Amino acid sequence: MATRLFEERAHAAIYQKYRFSPHENLQGVIFSYLEEKENLQGVIFSYLEEKRVSPGQLAVDVGCGSGQSTPMLAKHFEKVVGTDISEGQIEEARRSPQPPNVSYLVCPAEDLPFEDGSVDLVTAFAAVHWFDGPRFLREVDRVLKPSGCVVFSSYNWDMQLCYKDCTDELTEIFREVVDQLFTFRNKKLKSLENDYQEIFDSLPFPEKKRMMDIFDKITLSVADVIGYIQSLSQYRLYLEAQPEEAKSLLQNTERRILETMGVSSRDTQLELRTKHICILGCKSS
Ligand SMILES: C[S@@+](CC[C@H](N)C(=O)[O-])C[C@H]1O[C@@H](n2cnc3c(N)ncnc32)[C@H](O)[C@@H]1O
Repeated sequence: MATRLFEERAHAAIYQKYRFSPHENLQGVIFSYLEEKENLQGVIFSYLEEKRVSPGQLAVDVGCGSGQSTPMLAKHFEKVVGTDISEGQIEEARRSPQPPNVSYLVCPAEDLPFEDGSVDLVTAFAAVHWFDGPRFLREVDRVLKPSGCVVFSSYNWDMQLCYKDCTDELTEIFREVVDQLFTFRNKKLKSLENDYQEIFDSLPFPEKKRMMDIFDKITLSVADVIGYIQSLSQYRLYLEAQPEEAKSLLQNTERRILETMGVSSRDTQLELRTKHICILGCKSS
Protein backbone atom coordinates (compact mmCIF):
# COMPACT_ATOMS: atom_id res chain seq x y z
CA MET A 1 0.00 0.00 0.00
CA ALA A 2 1.22 3.51 -0.82
CA THR A 3 1.53 5.87 2.15
CA ARG A 4 0.10 9.39 1.92
CA LEU A 5 2.21 11.80 3.92
CA PHE A 6 3.75 15.17 2.93
CA GLU A 7 0.47 16.26 1.36
CA GLU A 8 -0.55 19.15 3.58
CA ARG A 9 0.29 22.49 1.91
CA ALA A 10 2.02 23.96 4.98
CA HIS A 11 4.23 20.87 5.10
CA ALA A 12 5.05 21.18 1.40
CA ALA A 13 6.18 24.80 1.94
CA ILE A 14 8.42 23.78 4.86
CA TYR A 15 9.71 20.90 2.79
CA GLN A 16 10.56 23.17 -0.12
CA LYS A 17 12.46 25.52 2.15
CA TYR A 18 14.44 23.11 4.30
CA ARG A 19 15.05 19.80 2.48
CA PHE A 20 18.38 19.49 0.74
CA SER A 21 19.36 18.40 -2.74
CA PRO A 22 21.93 15.68 -3.42
CA HIS A 23 25.40 17.13 -2.79
CA GLU A 24 28.72 16.63 -4.51
CA ASN A 25 29.73 13.10 -3.49
CA LEU A 26 26.31 11.55 -4.06
CA GLN A 27 26.01 13.30 -7.42
CA GLY A 28 29.52 12.06 -8.28
CA VAL A 29 28.54 8.43 -7.59
CA ILE A 30 25.31 8.72 -9.59
CA PHE A 31 26.71 10.45 -12.64
CA SER A 32 29.85 8.29 -12.74
CA TYR A 33 27.60 5.21 -12.82
CA LEU A 34 25.46 6.68 -15.60
CA GLU A 35 28.57 7.70 -17.50
CA GLU A 36 29.95 4.17 -17.24
CA LYS A 37 26.64 2.72 -18.52
CA GLU A 38 26.38 5.25 -21.33
CA ASN A 39 29.95 4.60 -22.45
CA LEU A 40 29.19 0.91 -22.61
CA GLN A 41 26.33 1.79 -24.92
CA GLY A 42 28.61 3.93 -27.07
CA VAL A 43 27.25 7.29 -26.01
CA ILE A 44 29.68 9.95 -24.91
CA PHE A 45 28.80 11.47 -21.57
CA SER A 46 30.99 13.50 -19.30
CA TYR A 47 29.81 14.42 -15.83
CA LEU A 48 33.06 16.19 -15.00
CA GLU A 49 32.93 18.31 -18.14
CA GLU A 50 29.21 18.71 -17.59
CA LYS A 51 28.36 17.94 -21.18
CA ARG A 52 27.33 14.99 -23.21
CA VAL A 53 27.31 14.56 -26.95
CA SER A 54 24.20 12.44 -27.14
CA PRO A 55 21.93 13.13 -24.19
CA GLY A 56 19.55 10.54 -22.82
CA GLN A 57 16.04 11.45 -23.82
CA LEU A 58 13.89 11.09 -20.74
CA ALA A 59 14.57 10.93 -17.00
CA VAL A 60 11.72 10.60 -14.49
CA ASP A 61 12.26 11.58 -10.85
CA VAL A 62 9.53 9.80 -8.86
CA GLY A 63 8.38 11.14 -5.47
CA CYS A 64 10.18 14.34 -6.42
CA GLY A 65 8.64 16.34 -3.56
CA SER A 66 9.07 20.05 -4.25
CA GLY A 67 11.88 19.33 -6.72
CA GLN A 68 14.91 18.85 -4.46
CA SER A 69 16.71 16.56 -6.92
CA THR A 70 14.91 16.87 -10.24
CA PRO A 71 16.76 19.89 -11.73
CA MET A 72 20.20 18.28 -11.32
CA LEU A 73 19.20 15.82 -14.08
CA ALA A 74 18.44 18.60 -16.55
CA LYS A 75 21.95 18.89 -18.00
CA HIS A 76 22.08 15.21 -18.83
CA PHE A 77 18.68 14.50 -20.37
CA GLU A 78 16.64 16.16 -23.10
CA LYS A 79 13.56 16.02 -20.92
CA VAL A 80 13.18 15.54 -17.17
CA VAL A 81 9.81 14.94 -15.48
CA GLY A 82 9.38 15.10 -11.70
CA THR A 83 6.34 13.20 -10.41
CA ASP A 84 4.71 13.15 -6.98
CA ILE A 85 1.41 12.04 -5.51
CA SER A 86 1.08 15.31 -3.59
CA GLU A 87 -0.42 18.31 -5.36
CA GLY A 88 1.00 20.59 -2.67
CA GLN A 89 4.55 19.36 -3.30
CA ILE A 90 4.18 19.70 -7.08
CA GLU A 91 2.78 23.24 -6.73
CA GLU A 92 5.86 24.16 -4.68
CA ALA A 93 8.14 22.57 -7.29
CA ARG A 94 6.48 24.51 -10.12
CA ARG A 95 6.75 27.75 -8.14
CA SER A 96 10.56 27.64 -7.94
CA PRO A 97 12.78 28.51 -10.93
CA GLN A 98 13.43 25.46 -13.14
CA PRO A 99 15.56 24.66 -16.20
CA PRO A 100 13.39 24.81 -19.36
CA ASN A 101 13.48 21.03 -19.97
CA VAL A 102 12.10 20.17 -16.49
CA SER A 103 8.38 19.70 -15.86
CA TYR A 104 6.26 18.25 -13.05
CA LEU A 105 3.24 15.94 -12.85
CA VAL A 106 0.94 14.76 -10.07
CA CYS A 107 0.66 10.96 -10.21
CA PRO A 108 1.26 7.88 -8.05
CA ALA A 109 4.61 6.11 -8.30
CA GLU A 110 2.72 2.87 -8.88
CA ASP A 111 0.95 4.17 -11.99
CA LEU A 112 3.32 6.28 -14.08
CA PRO A 113 1.85 7.96 -17.19
CA PHE A 114 4.65 6.92 -19.56
CA GLU A 115 4.63 4.48 -22.48
CA ASP A 116 6.21 1.04 -22.15
CA GLY A 117 9.96 1.21 -22.81
CA SER A 118 10.09 5.01 -23.09
CA VAL A 119 12.25 6.14 -20.15
CA ASP A 120 16.08 6.18 -19.90
CA LEU A 121 16.38 6.76 -16.17
CA VAL A 122 14.04 6.46 -13.17
CA THR A 123 15.22 8.09 -9.94
CA ALA A 124 13.69 8.31 -6.46
CA PHE A 125 15.38 10.39 -3.78
CA ALA A 126 14.31 10.01 -0.15
CA ALA A 127 11.12 8.54 -1.54
CA VAL A 128 11.18 4.88 -2.63
CA HIS A 129 10.49 3.64 0.93
CA TRP A 130 7.11 5.42 0.83
CA PHE A 131 5.88 3.59 -2.27
CA ASP A 132 4.14 0.25 -2.68
CA GLY A 133 7.43 -1.51 -3.47
CA PRO A 134 6.28 -4.44 -5.64
CA ARG A 135 3.87 -2.32 -7.72
CA PHE A 136 6.45 0.47 -8.15
CA LEU A 137 9.19 -1.92 -9.29
CA ARG A 138 6.85 -3.52 -11.84
CA GLU A 139 6.04 -0.05 -13.14
CA VAL A 140 9.73 0.88 -13.35
CA ASP A 141 10.41 -2.29 -15.34
CA ARG A 142 7.54 -1.45 -17.68
CA VAL A 143 8.48 2.18 -18.45
CA LEU A 144 12.27 1.72 -18.73
CA LYS A 145 13.90 1.20 -22.12
CA PRO A 146 16.19 -1.82 -22.49
CA SER A 147 19.46 -0.87 -20.70
CA GLY A 148 17.61 1.92 -18.88
CA CYS A 149 18.88 2.73 -15.38
CA VAL A 150 17.50 3.28 -11.88
CA VAL A 151 18.86 5.33 -9.00
CA PHE A 152 17.12 5.00 -5.61
CA SER A 153 18.85 6.98 -2.93
CA SER A 154 18.24 8.45 0.50
CA TYR A 155 20.03 9.90 3.47
CA ASN A 156 19.17 8.45 6.86
CA TRP A 157 19.35 9.80 10.43
CA ASP A 158 22.94 8.81 10.85
CA MET A 159 23.92 12.47 10.64
CA GLN A 160 26.53 14.54 12.43
CA LEU A 161 26.22 18.22 13.32
CA CYS A 162 29.68 19.76 13.21
CA TYR A 163 30.86 23.06 14.65
CA LYS A 164 34.33 23.83 16.00
CA ASP A 165 35.07 21.50 18.92
CA CYS A 166 31.44 20.71 19.86
CA THR A 167 30.56 18.16 17.17
CA ASP A 168 29.96 15.33 19.66
CA GLU A 169 27.59 17.38 21.85
CA LEU A 170 25.66 18.75 18.86
CA THR A 171 25.35 15.31 17.28
CA GLU A 172 24.07 13.96 20.60
CA ILE A 173 21.39 16.70 20.74
CA PHE A 174 20.32 15.80 17.21
CA ARG A 175 20.27 12.09 18.07
CA GLU A 176 18.05 12.77 21.12
CA VAL A 177 15.54 14.53 18.84
CA VAL A 178 15.54 11.56 16.45
CA ASP A 179 14.98 9.22 19.43
CA GLN A 180 12.17 11.36 20.83
CA LEU A 181 10.38 11.24 17.47
CA PHE A 182 10.89 7.48 17.19
CA THR A 183 7.38 6.54 18.31
CA PHE A 184 5.93 8.69 15.52
CA ARG A 185 7.92 6.94 12.81
CA ASN A 186 5.88 5.35 10.07
CA LYS A 187 6.66 1.64 9.64
CA LYS A 188 7.65 2.36 6.03
CA LEU A 189 10.81 4.02 7.40
CA LYS A 190 12.05 0.55 8.47
CA SER A 191 13.15 -0.01 4.91
CA LEU A 192 15.46 3.00 5.25
CA GLU A 193 16.80 1.68 8.57
CA ASN A 194 17.58 -1.60 6.76
CA ASP A 195 19.52 0.32 4.12
CA TYR A 196 16.95 -0.57 1.45
CA GLN A 197 17.89 -4.26 1.61
CA GLU A 198 14.41 -5.43 0.65
CA ILE A 199 14.07 -2.97 -2.23
CA PHE A 200 17.51 -3.98 -3.49
CA ASP A 201 16.64 -7.69 -3.31
CA SER A 202 13.36 -7.11 -5.17
CA LEU A 203 14.83 -5.04 -8.00
CA PRO A 204 14.37 -7.39 -10.98
CA PHE A 205 17.54 -6.39 -12.87
CA PRO A 206 20.57 -8.62 -13.39
CA GLU A 207 22.92 -5.71 -12.92
CA LYS A 208 22.58 -3.81 -9.68
CA LYS A 209 24.60 -2.56 -6.74
CA ARG A 210 23.90 -0.98 -3.37
CA MET A 211 26.24 1.55 -1.79
CA MET A 212 25.84 2.43 1.89
CA ASP A 213 28.76 4.68 2.67
CA ILE A 214 28.45 7.84 0.63
CA PHE A 215 29.07 10.90 2.79
CA ASP A 216 28.38 14.56 2.06
CA LYS A 217 28.80 17.86 3.90
CA ILE A 218 26.08 20.48 3.84
CA THR A 219 26.61 23.97 5.22
CA LEU A 220 23.46 25.31 6.84
CA SER A 221 22.30 27.58 9.65
CA VAL A 222 20.92 26.64 13.06
CA ALA A 223 17.51 27.83 11.75
CA ASP A 224 17.87 25.41 8.82
CA VAL A 225 18.57 22.49 11.18
CA ILE A 226 15.36 23.30 13.07
CA GLY A 227 13.51 23.64 9.74
CA TYR A 228 14.82 20.24 8.65
CA ILE A 229 13.49 18.63 11.86
CA GLN A 230 10.14 20.35 11.23
CA SER A 231 10.01 18.81 7.74
CA LEU A 232 10.29 15.21 9.01
CA SER A 233 7.14 13.11 8.64
CA GLN A 234 7.48 11.93 12.25
CA TYR A 235 7.64 15.54 13.49
CA ARG A 236 4.43 16.35 11.54
CA LEU A 237 2.69 13.40 13.26
CA TYR A 238 4.00 14.52 16.67
CA LEU A 239 2.70 18.04 15.97
CA GLU A 240 -0.73 16.67 15.15
CA ALA A 241 -0.86 14.45 18.25
CA GLN A 242 0.81 16.75 20.82
CA PRO A 243 1.14 20.27 19.40
CA GLU A 244 2.52 22.00 22.52
CA GLU A 245 5.12 19.31 23.20
CA ALA A 246 6.18 19.30 19.54
CA LYS A 247 6.69 23.09 19.48
CA SER A 248 8.65 22.89 22.78
CA LEU A 249 10.89 20.25 21.26
CA LEU A 250 11.88 22.66 18.48
CA GLN A 251 12.39 25.60 20.86
CA ASN A 252 14.45 23.56 23.33
CA THR A 253 16.52 22.00 20.57
CA GLU A 254 17.33 25.40 19.10
CA ARG A 255 18.25 26.79 22.52
CA ARG A 256 20.48 23.80 23.32
CA ILE A 257 22.24 23.98 19.94
CA LEU A 258 22.91 27.73 20.32
CA GLU A 259 24.14 27.32 23.92
CA THR A 260 26.42 24.44 22.94
CA MET A 261 27.89 26.44 20.06
CA GLY A 262 28.24 29.48 22.33
CA VAL A 263 26.45 31.78 19.86
CA SER A 264 23.20 33.74 19.95
CA SER A 265 22.18 34.00 16.29
CA ARG A 266 20.13 31.26 14.64
CA ASP A 267 21.75 32.33 11.35
CA THR A 268 25.10 30.97 12.56
CA GLN A 269 26.38 28.39 10.09
CA LEU A 270 27.39 24.85 10.93
CA GLU A 271 27.97 21.70 8.92
CA LEU A 272 25.67 18.73 8.58
CA ARG A 273 27.41 15.50 7.57
CA THR A 274 25.00 13.17 5.82
CA LYS A 275 25.29 9.48 5.00
CA HIS A 276 23.55 8.11 1.93
CA ILE A 277 22.33 4.78 0.70
CA CYS A 278 22.21 4.42 -3.06
CA ILE A 279 20.86 1.61 -5.24
CA LEU A 280 22.07 1.73 -8.85
CA GLY A 281 20.75 -0.68 -11.43
CA CYS A 282 20.40 -1.29 -15.11
CA LYS A 283 17.69 -3.21 -16.99
CA SER A 284 18.95 -5.87 -19.37
CA SER A 285 19.44 -4.82 -23.00
C1 LIG B 1 10.60 12.48 1.80
S1 LIG B 1 9.83 13.14 0.36
C2 LIG B 1 11.22 13.21 -0.80
C3 LIG B 1 11.11 14.36 -1.77
C4 LIG B 1 12.34 14.62 -2.64
N1 LIG B 1 12.53 13.57 -3.62
C5 LIG B 1 13.60 14.83 -1.81
O1 LIG B 1 14.65 14.34 -2.23
O2 LIG B 1 13.55 15.52 -0.79
C6 LIG B 1 8.89 11.81 -0.24
C7 LIG B 1 7.96 12.22 -1.36
O3 LIG B 1 7.35 11.04 -1.88
C8 LIG B 1 6.00 11.36 -2.21
N2 LIG B 1 5.23 10.11 -2.24
C9 LIG B 1 4.90 9.31 -1.19
N3 LIG B 1 4.20 8.26 -1.64
C10 LIG B 1 4.10 8.39 -2.99
C11 LIG B 1 3.52 7.60 -4.01
N4 LIG B 1 2.91 6.45 -3.74
N5 LIG B 1 3.62 8.04 -5.28
C12 LIG B 1 4.26 9.18 -5.58
N6 LIG B 1 4.84 9.97 -4.65
C13 LIG B 1 4.76 9.58 -3.37
C14 LIG B 1 5.57 12.31 -1.11
O4 LIG B 1 4.44 13.07 -1.48
C15 LIG B 1 6.84 13.14 -0.90
O5 LIG B 1 6.82 14.30 -1.67
